[in-house]
Amino acid sequence: MDKIRIRGGRPLHGEIIIRGAKNAGLPLMAAGLLTDERVVLTNVPLLEDIRTMTALLRQHGLAVEKPNNEGEAGRVLSIGGPITNTEAPYDIVRKMRASILVLGPLVARVGEARVSLPGGCSIGTRPVDLHLKGLEQMGAVVSLDGGYITATAPAGLRGATILMPFPSVGATENLMMAACLANGQTVIANAAREPEISDLAACLVSMGARIAGIGTDRLTIEGVDRLHGTTHPIVADRIETGTYACAAAITGGSVHLRGGRLAHLGAVAQSLAEAGVEMTEQEDGITVRRLNGLHGADVMTEPYPGFPTDMQAQFMALMSVSDGAAMLTETIFENRFMHVPELNRMGARINVHGSSAIVRGVPQLSGAPVMATDLRASVSLVLAGLAARGETVVNRVYHLDRGYEAVEEKLAACGADIERLPG
Ligand code: EPZ
Repeated sequence: MDKIRIRGGRPLHGEIIIRGAKNAGLPLMAAGLLTDERVVLTNVPLLEDIRTMTALLRQHGLAVEKPNNEGEAGRVLSIGGPITNTEAPYDIVRKMRASILVLGPLVARVGEARVSLPGGCSIGTRPVDLHLKGLEQMGAVVSLDGGYITATAPAGLRGATILMPFPSVGATENLMMAACLANGQTVIANAAREPEISDLAACLVSMGARIAGIGTDRLTIEGVDRLHGTTHPIVADRIETGTYACAAAITGGSVHLRGGRLAHLGAVAQSLAEAGVEMTEQEDGITVRRLNGLHGADVMTEPYPGFPTDMQAQFMALMSVSDGAAMLTETIFENRFMHVPELNRMGARINVHGSSAIVRGVPQLSGAPVMATDLRASVSLVLAGLAARGETVVNRVYHLDRGYEAVEEKLAACGADIERLPG
């Protein structure tokens, strides 16, 4: 297994290109199941999860090709063709929970699906009950057997009014895609509002879907008989943007994040400003620099537009070297503090009490061998290594490769002393 070695203490200066969002690309690829015509996605990030979703769509019978577009370097995916297999097998789903996003499109398009239950991961049990209840409200017959979800709707799905008890991102995406081909009107109330959902909705509308309330917590979808092909650019990754903003801040450097969009950072930009980090938006991106010292700033993770759970670990690494204290409360997932013991091994002073962690800033962290556990915890350890005195080796970086493209190359190009040690 590959490792990443970092020798810390070097301020970052330069430019980092922000690519398409993993958490937009995955549902957008699943939307390719909603039509036989070509759905062409551009600004596709080169990530392990995108490769896994490619394999999943191909085993459903779809052609997923990378046209050799000059200059796009494999960042264009052309998806299309008839569905020949409605089963999403365990050996793929267990590698990537987002595989559940094929469920709604398959049932809506061909009236049946057999999808392995995703199972949990290190950050939580990750249930999918809201996905299943919504499909049942739309007339699907859902059963669980042998670790698989079987969902059928031989007469097609019908529109329904679905009140989500929690604004689940994945459930909103699954049900919105299913509703596009249902008979009649579907209302999703208390829908999630993440920018990736608005990006998916915009793509669906360009395919002929009829969706109102995009960007709000109430989506109204008028089902249509069929959808057609489209070409859609994947929205920039706000979590990648926030991650590299923290990298600039924790090293005391100044970095231009080309393609980053301040509007999508919302609460993260506010918390970074409170911590003493300046973010200036230009037409081609955002420039981030630390003004003076780093101050403690409390955050509580919440559904968008609140502080995103996917930025909690990265912000905690930043707060570990602030000149004050910070309280970080995780309200979305039940076990998303796996980075804490690893940061503490680097000299951080973090105490976890239930769903809150109190961070007392220290003048400097010290490098150490550390273990990556999940995607965002992994990158928080890289951030800590960039600021630490001495050498840090992050083990099990396959977690990182699922959601961050060429992280060591991007950071090295800004002056970091970082390299990948092939495992
Ligand atoms: C998406 O996961 C993202 N993944 C996650 O990013 C992100 O952390 C999460 O949304 C929250 O923003 C993708 O988009 C591929 P949820 P998802 O459904 O859809 C509970 C990353 O690091 N819940 O909003 O699974 C659930 O247990 C990943 O890029 C139910 O109870 O998130 C959790 O506590 C990690 N029943 C909460 O809702 C359900 O049916 C949020 O889950 C569904 C969810």
